[in-house]
Amino acid sequence: MAATPHPVDSEFYLAAEQFFPAQRHVALTYDDVTLATQFSEILPRDTQLATSLAEELTLNIPIISADMDTVTEARMAISMALNGGLGLIHYNMPEKDQLKEVSRVKNHVHGLIQEPIQVKPEQLIGDVLRMIEERRFSFSTFPVVDAKNQLVGLLPGHVVKQRYASKLVSEALTPRSQVHTLNVSELGNDPITRADKFFSDNPGIHKILIVDDQDCLHGLFTLSDIERITLERRAQFKPARDNKFRLLCGAAVSATRNPFGELDRERLLNHVGGLVDRGLDVVAVSTAHGFSKGVGEAVRMIRSAFPALPILAGNVTSAEGVEFLAAAGANSIKVGQGPGSICTTRLVAGVGIPQLTALYVCSRAAAQSGVTLIADGGVNKSGDIVKALTLAEGVICGGLLAGCPEAPGETLEIGGKLYKQYRGMGSAAAMKAGAAARYGHTRDSAQKVAAEGVEALKELSGSLDQVLAQLIGGIQSGLGYLGASDLRHLRSRARFIRVTSAGQRESAPHDVIEVKTTK
Ligand code: XMP
Repeated sequence: MAATPHPVDSEFYLAAEQFFPAQRHVALTYDDVTLATQFSEILPRDTQLATSLAEELTLNIPIISADMDTVTEARMAISMALNGGLGLIHYNMPEKDQLKEVSRVKNHVHGLIQEPIQVKPEQLIGDVLRMIEERRFSFSTFPVVDAKNQLVGLLPGHVVKQRYASKLVSEALTPRSQVHTLNVSELGNDPITRADKFFSDNPGIHKILIVDDQDCLHGLFTLSDIERITLERRAQFKPARDNKFRLLCGAAVSATRNPFGELDRERLLNHVGGLVDRGLDVVAVSTAHGFSKGVGEAVRMIRSAFPALPILAGNVTSAEGVEFLAAAGANSIKVGQGPGSICTTRLVAGVGIPQLTALYVCSRAAAQSGVTLIADGGVNKSGDIVKALTLAEGVICGGLLAGCPEAPGETLEIGGKLYKQYRGMGSAAAMKAGAAARYGHTRDSAQKVAAEGVEALKELSGSLDQVLAQLIGGIQSGLGYLGASDLRHLRSRARFIRVTSAGQRESAPHDVIEVKTTK
């Protein structure tokens, strides 16, 4: 097709550099604009979504889970990285716990259940039945270990029955000599292939226990997990890994202050040092107001102590804010003040800029400063991600992922429906639990200051794999419509036009009664 666009199209559908300056008196967000289609010979399924946030930080999909205490702990971060993205472990927990969460991600061996639920020989089968009921386990086979964590046997599901409730585990177990095990040293670099071969060589065996030289239990592989993973290996988007083949992991820190109100240099650097020792790939200095002295100092300190560590910093919504954090040493800048689904910053403080205008303004400075941008908050659907990626290298999602089983927190049942809690880190409850520093308050003052977020519920969604599959499919469609084979082409081919509220209404299903015939 002609390299020069049709003059009529060029008159109406403008590139970002023309479109946003022409709208300079109004702040726009995702639903205020739409993207024009372009000639395409690209099939959505062939598009690539890899993105580089820093020289040493490339993701296979441009999606990051938010550093919020109802979104990202180890389980979410593991699933995000397995899908090619990144999780940022939140900091609303004691520092030692955050170190443990990072270790869990970095030591995760895909498919290996590293802390399997175990039972003791002296327990009664009745105790095991009660545990299954109370903790709602969907499985009933358990490794049996003694007080020294040495393997004694395997309690098979077919004996975990009410009929045997008064029997001891030691009377019902399959003894150690008949249990199939592998030594941890036999797993090599590719534990899945090793486990897969073991299951093929041993028909009828559904579980392998992993032990060390002292016969202490280190984990468990199940046949069904290995079969699922072998299928997933053919997936288009590979897990995001470091050069030692470990999953990528990020963690957020705040600009912690000492009792005299100064930045607590020693504490911050010790903690980041601990995170780096555990293999952390990227640190995020996460605050509501990143264009501030404390955040600049924190970024500068981390940069000089850890020259090679990728740093994300924010949040800002101005070109000057981007330059400020770039000069302090950040590699990627988080953009977003008040767009989040649980945010009330704009209502409470009267500040913040709708997200697309903020991204455009910041993108001008980012290009000059040699940093990348991450659009943080306000992403409600895959189309928003496509629009964000026309100006940024990645997006952070909170609300879109908070309903997944992988998010921290219990599933609640209310009126027959299942929900998960989702709360702003500036909500009164989250600040009380420790996140006050993010909003420039001390924990003690948290009760006296205005909250900038709400506590909410999200309906329980499908697994993170399912949610991401939908989002990725949507992003790939967007690229296909624009004839873009990757995110770089998306940026150069994006043409914008404003939509009215009638246009927005037209964009969503309308004048029909929606029905669902599939789950
Ligand atoms: P979404 O829209 O994905 O937004 O739910 C997640 C992002 O919102 C930010 N965040 C807050 N902003 N008050 C705010 O003004 C809050 O209490 C709050 N908590 C989180 C944060 O940037 C997150 O990634």
